[in-house]
Amino acid sequence: MTHLCKETLVAVVNGQLPGPAIEVREGDSVAINVINKSRYNITIHWHGVKQRLNCWADGVPMITQCPILPNHSMTYRFNVTDQEGTLWWHSHVPSLRATVHGALIIRPRHGASYPFVKPHREIPIIVGEWWQKDLVQLNKELKDGTYYYNATFAATINGKLGDVHNCSGKIEDGYVLEVEPGKTYLLRIINAALTSEYYFKIAGHRFTVVAADANYVNHYTTDVIAVAPGETVDALLVADASPAGSYYMVAQDIQPPITDYTEPKLIARGTVRYQSSNNGGEDEAPSSSDVPMAPEMPGLHDRMVSFYFHGNLTSQHRRSPVPTHVDDHLFVTLSAGSVCRHGQSCKRRGNIQESIILVTMNDVSFLLPTAAAATPLLESHYYYGQNKTATGDGVDLHALPDRPRKTFNFTDTALIPHGPKEERLEPTERAATARRFRHGAAVEVVFQSTAVMQSHYNPMHLHGHDMFVLAQGLGNYDAARDVARYNLVDPPVKNTVLVPSLGWAAVRFIADNPGVWYLHCHYEYHASMGMTTVFIVDDGTTVDSTLPPPPADLPKCGHNNNLMPN
Ligand code: C2O
Repeated sequence: MTHLCKETLVAVVNGQLPGPAIEVREGDSVAINVINKSRYNITIHWHGVKQRLNCWADGVPMITQCPILPNHSMTYRFNVTDQEGTLWWHSHVPSLRATVHGALIIRPRHGASYPFVKPHREIPIIVGEWWQKDLVQLNKELKDGTYYYNATFAATINGKLGDVHNCSGKIEDGYVLEVEPGKTYLLRIINAALTSEYYFKIAGHRFTVVAADANYVNHYTTDVIAVAPGETVDALLVADASPAGSYYMVAQDIQPPITDYTEPKLIARGTVRYQSSNNGGEDEAPSSSDVPMAPEMPGLHDRMVSFYFHGNLTSQHRRSPVPTHVDDHLFVTLSAGSVCRHGQSCKRRGNIQESIILVTMNDVSFLLPTAAAATPLLESHYYYGQNKTATGDGVDLHALPDRPRKTFNFTDTALIPHGPKEERLEPTERAATARRFRHGAAVEVVFQSTAVMQSHYNPMHLHGHDMFVLAQGLGNYDAARDVARYNLVDPPVKNTVLVPSLGWAAVRFIADNPGVWYLHCHYEYHASMGMTTVFIVDDGTTVDSTLPPPPADLPKCGHNNNLMPN
């Protein structure tokens, strides 16, 4: 495909970018054939689908399955129950999801209706990024510390840029939404971008937010939507502006507080056009007076608009009660550290040639040891339970610590020493970490962002479960003060919780789905650089009996293979 004046070879699904939308009804059984004609190893993850008793279909390479090799195929089978709204699917081979993704739309069962006015049409709006770089290569470089943040990329709405790019001085086509005056549209907004949280606005219009992460929320009206990678927002748009005009829809990234950019770095523009009532309007050439009206976007560095947007979500129609007692507590710091590139032989820590910058959860950066990881964790868990190392098969897992090694003032930016980043970071370790939960346990996790992460935000995504987001705050979490602020009445239910930068978020969930579930930051750099762990839910016996056996056509890989995910 050609964007930014350059043809780039990318993997796409059915020749489309975004890939095809999958449309189902709540309660449906879904079977999807994935035929891999690309040159990459592929898996597909059904982002937000709970996969109850069905971890095998979760689609995470070497965690829940061996990847599907080029010229191989696999059928994913799963049910969509107890969730309605917008989810999405994407490749879980790191970074490939930039072009291998699409919407997964779950409508109410036949006979049931939306808890809002029936829209005239439903429109998926996928905010994405176009990268002028081989994405598998990008992931390798992030992992081994050789990526220098120099790739060219641009924001897109439904695959289109709609902005001027310096290479040609011309405006690339933008996405166009044709509306009829007075009608109501349901926008199903998905952030499939690798790197940025976006503000989304349409000039001259307001939205009524009705769902987030395929859970209904109490309606609220806003003129701006904030959506972080992995999140989805369903919003009603009423075409109630003057039909004589046209209106830009803009997705613009939120900049870190400390950059000198005066322009947005990533911006995609689409246009909302009104059809004139007599003819559909599609063939009318736009007249020169037809310059679309532009929305006024939040300030470049304004993260509070996002903080309040997320804080304003409350749930409607919860399908299960909010847990009021907690069996298991976890306090997880999200931070960064460095390791020596060549084992212990780092002469001077901080020398960029010798050290690799990583991101961490409780001071550990996740890495599957390549030599050991010949068997996906889920298979090894299923067949060997906790005895897996005795067989020499599978991976030696390290327990994810329940809290960071040291407590300190996590969010005091003055505590960060000056100098090059490599020198400011504490040494860290790399390990394949996991945390076990007894089947049925009520779990509370507090994610605490830290000052070294001040330029970043962390959308933390848990597979296999939805989380109640009880509270978020700025600064350091303090249980004595903050538990009192928990919303135990109508907290939003999410599969991806945005941890505010220099702040924290507290969630609860019931670990009621046996399996091996990935938990990671959905900001792709962070996922590749180790802000990841796995939650293992089992019945506590040596070999878990609550997990059903693998499907017969699950791809195989063994000791003797080149089958590692790219
Ligand atoms: Cu949408 Cu594990 O990812």
